[in-house]
Amino acid sequence: MSICLEAKPVRKERIRELKTECANLKMKGVVPNLKVVLVGDDPASVIYTTHKKKFCEKIGARCEIIKLPSSTSESHLLDLIGKLASDDDVNGILIQLPLPQQLGHLDVGNIIPPNKDVDGFSDFNIAKIVKNENLGLKPCTPKGILSILDYYKIPLEGSNICVIGRSMIVGKPLSIMLTNRNATVVLCHSKSKNIKDHTKRADIIISAIGKPKFITKDFLSDDRKQTIIDVGMNHDDDGQLCGDTNYSELLDKCAAITPVPGGIGPMTILSLAENLVIATKSQKNLN
Ligand code: GUN
Repeated sequence: MSICLEAKPVRKERIRELKTECANLKMKGVVPNLKVVLVGDDPASVIYTTHKKKFCEKIGARCEIIKLPSSTSESHLLDLIGKLASDDDVNGILIQLPLPQQLGHLDVGNIIPPNKDVDGFSDFNIAKIVKNENLGLKPCTPKGILSILDYYKIPLEGSNICVIGRSMIVGKPLSIMLTNRNATVVLCHSKSKNIKDHTKRADIIISAIGKPKFITKDFLSDDRKQTIIDVGMNHDDDGQLCGDTNYSELLDKCAAITPVPGGIGPMTILSLAENLVIATKSQKNLN
């Protein structure tokens, strides 16, 4: 039987630490303050941003969701971000994606100053990863994946890892972060040939493609020693939330697997709160 890599114990441990950090900051007169900008009313984005706000408040930080109509113009959004950027009382800024069509061209990461870019999307923060400089704010989902692998003591150094999906939010930064940890990384995507050949050879398979139950037992090796990380948040034909993997089919065919829900989703929110605390301390020179 394989291990279910739940976020719950990791979060429990980190929430305790983050609460202590926020309490220490409060004694110095600082309460981390996140502004989440939500344009429009995409149902999934409304749920995600609510989870983000609740989690920040749980650890003793502040979080306001600034709701803007879906008709918001580029100049209005840029004006708002400019004000938040220059407000010393604001420590983190996040623009929830996706944005409505008329704003879709915006380079979201780079309109937020890198020291408040708690999503880790800016060129500055990405360059820190590429150069393997352990500074800056790391993208939340890749950071959460590394945290859960480390918590469950899954070795990275020298291991073969197959990442599926090359998005700027997950696959690309993740493949670099894993390389920095001395893993051998294969990054597969929609144009890759014979993905199964790569996944069968991997010690760890990480799927971030957004296709419900795409990864079936045919993608796995026969030795049942693989670890599977499922980043997907999809709905199956019955409208049920599911990941990129067919969880029930894979459970006894691997060594360990993350569930959906309860796996990488909550780890991403944890990473966001960690980034908010890091950003706050750095802005206030309280490291
Ligand atoms: N939409 C889906 N995932 C994310 C994320 O990690 N950050 C932002 N800003 N929007 C998202």
